Amino acid sequence: MPIRTPVHFPAAPVVALTLLLGGSLPAGAATTNARPTPSVPAAAHVAGGSLALTPPMGFNNWNSTQCGAGFDEAMVKGIADLFVARGLKDAGYTYVNLDDCWALPQRDATGNLVPDPVRFPNGLKALADYVHDKGLKFGLYSTAGTRTCNSKGFPGGLGHERQDAALWASWGVDFLKYDNCGNQGLDAPGRYRAMSEALRATGRPILLSVCEWGQNKPWQWAPALGEMWRTTYDIDDTWSRMIGLAHQNQKLAPYAAPGAWNDPDMLEVGNGGMTDTEYRTHFSLWAQMAAPLLIGTDLRTADRATYDILLNRDVIAVDQDPLGRQGVVVSATGGKVVMAKPLADGSVAVTLTNETAATATVSTTATEIGLGNADSYVLKDLWSKSAHSTGGAIGASVPAHGTVMYRVTPAGQKAAAAGTHPLTDRVWSQAYNSHGPVETDHSNGEKPAGDGRTLSLRGTTYGRGLGTHAPAEVVYHLGGECERFSVTVGIDDESAGRGSAVFQIWRDDTKVADSGPLTGTGPAKVLTADLTGGQRLRLVTAAAGDGIDHDHTDWADPRLTC
Ligand code: GLA
Repeated sequence: MPIRTPVHFPAAPVVALTLLLGGSLPAGAATTNARPTPSVPAAAHVAGGSLALTPPMGFNNWNSTQCGAGFDEAMVKGIADLFVARGLKDAGYTYVNLDDCWALPQRDATGNLVPDPVRFPNGLKALADYVHDKGLKFGLYSTAGTRTCNSKGFPGGLGHERQDAALWASWGVDFLKYDNCGNQGLDAPGRYRAMSEALRATGRPILLSVCEWGQNKPWQWAPALGEMWRTTYDIDDTWSRMIGLAHQNQKLAPYAAPGAWNDPDMLEVGNGGMTDTEYRTHFSLWAQMAAPLLIGTDLRTADRATYDILLNRDVIAVDQDPLGRQGVVVSATGGKVVMAKPLADGSVAVTLTNETAATATVSTTATEIGLGNADSYVLKDLWSKSAHSTGGAIGASVPAHGTVMYRVTPAGQKAAAAGTHPLTDRVWSQAYNSHGPVETDHSNGEKPAGDGRTLSLRGTTYGRGLGTHAPAEVVYHLGGECERFSVTVGIDDESAGRGSAVFQIWRDDTKVADSGPLTGTGPAKVLTADLTGGQRLRLVTAAAGDGIDHDHTDWADPRLTC
């Protein structure tokens, strides 16, 4: 088997981020891919496929109509019209999706699903055509069970996967929300895999939204089957429910990646149960969590404030950032919650959320959000649009249930220290690791941060270095200021003699050192590299032909001369 080609990141940001941004992916997520793998040079990792390199954006009727009579062809056409007329399409909203209750309770004589002729007198092919003619995409709903959740019990897809997928493809469906009702207690991954394969077999690109409510940890298996997965039970239009779902979803940040998104359910913005301040928090947090942005209000009657929230381009840009990281909680004390989301240009989005019932000051620092090595920073407030400069303090007075959201951009970088220094004195600008986070001065350990041991190669221990697990890539910003790099590489003794991998050092897009295959029993190897003029140092490990199991790859005693 050939050595894997290294993963490629977007251009490295100017200023490094800290460990908290060294997000990890679930075991296997980077390597199992049941859907077509695209060529995506800009993405670090594409788990589910190329259909959602950024979180899907669009509309779904459920939160406003449920199965009421207002759910019909006129509504769907009206939404598509407004997507174009009110600038939502231009802002990135693409999918116009139908939820439960679009079908008749019985299949026809040939076993096909039948659109409800009262709601959709012209059928769904005609409606899909209408949506497509606007340059938009059309989505539908079914369930990985015998009957959908509605009490009328509309037919589900279980056992009908190929027939239903073929029918939807013939109508021009682009997105399937696949629910979990009527599941007969059957294995969840298997039920969703059957539909994933059926959709693929149609030859039409159809995004799969796994709506399994987080019951069987879909973040561990859904990335191989679809592009997004519900992490929670249903949202409702209350502050307590919305913020509770945010808390659940925040914990799952490591599982989000381009092509594979945690879904804390659709937006309630505009439905009337929360204040506009609360809806701004809702929208800010969903963007900060790189969640799908599926509008759930009837745009035909939405007010100006609702449009202003849904069309905040700065907040949408955070959600849609091509780096594809879900923001992480930096601190959460006494209802004051700070989240940080690294962005592709090296800036960081910060949310300062006040979950308490009274105005409060919520604060953090540039160091805490991983931007600790600049002289000053520009803070742009993404709601008020004002900007100011800071030496590192980040804070605001935030109203009850409100969120202040900043984009923090480093300005004026501190000069790197001259001489030869341990690489781990620096913070990396980007890190991808296939099992758990990249560990500093410890072996990989595979799971949570800090679970590794002292770096150890054939019995020799090292105080400094990086513990990764192939495939992995860690990127450092050099800015043309460094000349030389030396490091000892090998498979950590933690692998107990198993595993094999190759280590590569890249100066920008030029490979400047390659270890060749190293094994868990063979000796470690010293690599040196000329970095003169390089903007970025990229440390890449890849499996050496026998899969990625036990490939605990150490970069021991790494030294940088600048
Ligand atoms: C479940 C889903 C909801 C909605 C309804 C429709 O509750 O989680 O999002 O699709 O079914 O019946």
